[in-house]
Formats: sequence, C-alpha cells, structure tokens
Amino acid sequence: MSSSALPEFRRFRPLRSSVDVRSSNAETQLDGSEFVYPMFVINGVNRREPVPSMPGVARMSSDEAMREAETAMLADVNRFLFFGIPDEKDATGTRAWSPIEAVQRTVAEFRAQLPEAKTITDVCMCEYTDHGHCGQLTASGEVDNDATLDLLAQTAVSHADAGAHVVAPSAMMDGQVSAIRAALDDAGHESVKILGYSAKYASAFYGPFRDAADSAPSFGDRRTYQMAPSQHEEAMQEIEADIAEGADFIMVKPALSYLDVIASASSRFRDYPLYAYNVSGEYSMIHAAASKGWIDLENTVLEVLLSIKRAGADAIISYFAIDAARWIKGIR
Ligand code: PBG
Repeated sequence: MSSSALPEFRRFRPLRSSVDVRSSNAETQLDGSEFVYPMFVINGVNRREPVPSMPGVARMSSDEAMREAETAMLADVNRFLFFGIPDEKDATGTRAWSPIEAVQRTVAEFRAQLPEAKTITDVCMCEYTDHGHCGQLTASGEVDNDATLDLLAQTAVSHADAGAHVVAPSAMMDGQVSAIRAALDDAGHESVKILGYSAKYASAFYGPFRDAADSAPSFGDRRTYQMAPSQHEEAMQEIEADIAEGADFIMVKPALSYLDVIASASSRFRDYPLYAYNVSGEYSMIHAAASKGWIDLENTVLEVLLSIKRAGADAIISYFAIDAARWIKGIR
C-alpha cells in the first residue's frame, strides 16, 4: 500500500528516539539536587551494619554516614534524612531526645564538617520504644496521642539544639506539627523548619524499614494512627491540617501506590514544597527483581523516580538517591 493511500495522522515516532529518561529534551527531568537520602544512624565509630532486606543500605555510625554523604554530594545530593536507632529502647522512648544519641551527634558533626549538607531529622518514637509503636501507650495499650505530643516536641527541640535544619515528624499524632512548632519557637529555634509527613498511609511497603530500624510493633499495627490506603480526600485534609499547624513542607508517603495523591496535593497546595517518600518496600522489591535478572535496575529506578516527579513531587526521598544521581550525572 502506498503512503498516499493512508489517512492523515500525526507522526510521533521520529521524536521518540531522542527522548529517554536522561535526555535534555524530556518534559520531566531528574536531578540529584531534588533527592533526599535517608540514613539509619547508630552510636559508636566505624560501625556499619548492612540491612539484609535492603541491599546496599546499612546502619552507620556518624563517621561512616559522613563518608557516605561526601559521595552523595559529589552527585549533587545534599539533603539527608536521619533515623536514629538506639542501643537500648524503653516504654516511652527516652533515648529519642538524648543529646548524645546517634541522630543528635550525627547532625552536629554534619553541621561542623559538611556545611553544604542540609540535615533533616525524623521525629518519631517507634525507633526508640520497646513496643515499637510511634508513641507512648495508655494503661490499656493504646497509643496516647496527647501524651505523645510532648515527647515528640522534646525530641524535635533536641534535634534543633544539635543543629538540624528541618525536623520531620512522622508519628502521625494529631496536633504534632503545632506542638513541635510551639516548642521550637519557645526554645529559640524559630528558623528551624518543619517537614510534615502529612499524608502517611498504613502501608505494607514499610516492612524492610522496620527491619532496618528494628521498629516493627510488638503487637497490633499502626492503623489507628496512619491512613487507610483507600482514602484520598482524607489525605488532602491531613495536608491542610499540617499547613494550618505551621508545616513549611508537606509529604505524601509512600510514593508509588499513591501517585494520584501526589498529583492532587501538588495542584492543591502549590505554595508548599511537596516531598514524596519512595519507601523501603519500593526500594527492596526493585532490588529483588533486578537481582534475579527479571528487570533492569538502572532503567527501572530512573523510570520510577521520574514517575514520582512527573506526578508533581518537588523533592523525592529515596534510598536510591545516590545511585540514581550518579547514573544521571554519568558517574560510574
Ligand atoms: C516512623 C517511620 C516509618 C517510616 C518512616 N518513618 C515506619 C513506619 O511508619 O512504620 C517508613 C519508611 C520506609 O519504609 O522507608 N514512623
């Protein structure tokens, strides 16, 4: 059949060959400076404990974390989110606000030695409590929302005292952002910003993280304080509430199963930088499939990160941050 016999149609194919995930004429592009690299920090020096369910991720002492950050910064990743894992846990998670715990020390060392690095701290009790819940419990074993607010506020202030630029409350206690804002201001930390884990779902994708942080709840689950995956409008209300309480930045977590929530949040809350958390399970499942040769690691990771950005995220928190930033820059 000659082409003159064909009806009129648009030819897209000539354009395609030049657009891949890294090309400069792509509509959406990725850059290491938009990534946040999460790190699990522990006490001591020269300690590195690989997390079995997260290939390439390790719990690290502050000196090791600093070395990893230097590598990250060569690829333009300069924002770091710290989770602390204490040597001992107790019912109220008292180590969370100790000035000599891993997060506080690591933040102080980063501020002194890596002035270009931005330090963000996770503020939650689950890594510090022996029962693994995100707050203090009542006598009947429920998480006590209001009693937990004080603990979170104290923890956030201790992070700010150590020099944190941003504190990120992830406990999903109602009122946590306003409690933390008030405590920070009282302590003279008016310039410390708050990244709310505003819309945080009760997700099956947190499994490997709980392994890394040794924070799986010893009984029950987190469904009384984290959101049900079916809820979209509630996510918008959670974000609105965080903004009303004084959050500077907002978040949707996890990212991949919630791209619609990211898209809605980015169009509804244009004035607030939107973070998306590409969580542990999203990381580990790609690694697992890639290690079997079923998918290609690099291309899959870049496609996933691109999708999160295309949905509307301004910043992406990902355990892939360093690898992805290096691939984008062509560092091998
Ligand atoms: C703490 C917290 C969790 C994650 C971030 N902060 C775990 C949880 O809620 O159980 C998960 C992050 C990840 O899976 O990478 N509350």
